[in-house]
Amino acid sequence: MTGRGVELVVCANAEAAARAAAERLVDAVRAGGAIALSGGSTPRRSFELAAQLEPSWAKASAWWGDERCVPPHDARSNYRLAREALLDRLARPPEVHRIRGELPAEEAAAAYEEELGELRLDLALMGLGPEGHTASLFPGAPTLDERVRRVVAAKPGLEPWVDRVTLTLPALSASREVLFLVTGEAKADAARRAFAEEPTRDVPASLLRSSEGRTVAILDAAAARDLSG
Ligand code: 6PG
Repeated sequence: MTGRGVELVVCANAEAAARAAAERLVDAVRAGGAIALSGGSTPRRSFELAAQLEPSWAKASAWWGDERCVPPHDARSNYRLAREALLDRLARPPEVHRIRGELPAEEAAAAYEEELGELRLDLALMGLGPEGHTASLFPGAPTLDERVRRVVAAKPGLEPWVDRVTLTLPALSASREVLFLVTGEAKADAARRAFAEEPTRDVPASLLRSSEGRTVAILDAAAARDLSG
């Protein structure tokens, strides 16, 4: 099934979607890829399954698509999510490039942009907010217009109401694969707007497609409810 420039993979339930995403993560790991991890709650199960499928991530490097400006041990930290669900479960961890959320947003963004350099990601794992944001690119935000910088500071568009650091559309769309993982009925409207309707600044995920590679959206049936077969 295809949406607007997106290969849609609809799975029966959230567990099957998590496993499908884990398999794609592991393919990128085994190819020695540079992988940008997403945050929030959806990817947790996929991280756990990926660690079971492939305990050695030594060939890969782990990056983040965005981070909340909180310390790495904070329950809201995207790094903490990945550390608990993935990194601490690996026999051989990847090179880890954490966004330093403990710093002020502008400083953390500048530092990460330096670290990321011109690196082209092999896989960018993306979530989808119920109102259509992805990474920390929020509806109508000025960050959507950034065409030069690869990492910027961002103001939150929904909870947690903390400053953010986010990769920009140029950085994310340069990825060889953009992989959305979307589950739950609460995401059905956003999924339709992101993957099946005209791109719009009101729905940042509708603006994100891999410019030269693949864009894939893995959804469970609930999130795919409004996407035609
Ligand atoms: C973040 C994420 C964000 C997330 C969506 C979906 O920092 O919050 O990067 O883009 O993917 O908000 O979050 P859930 O998976 O919790 O629904």
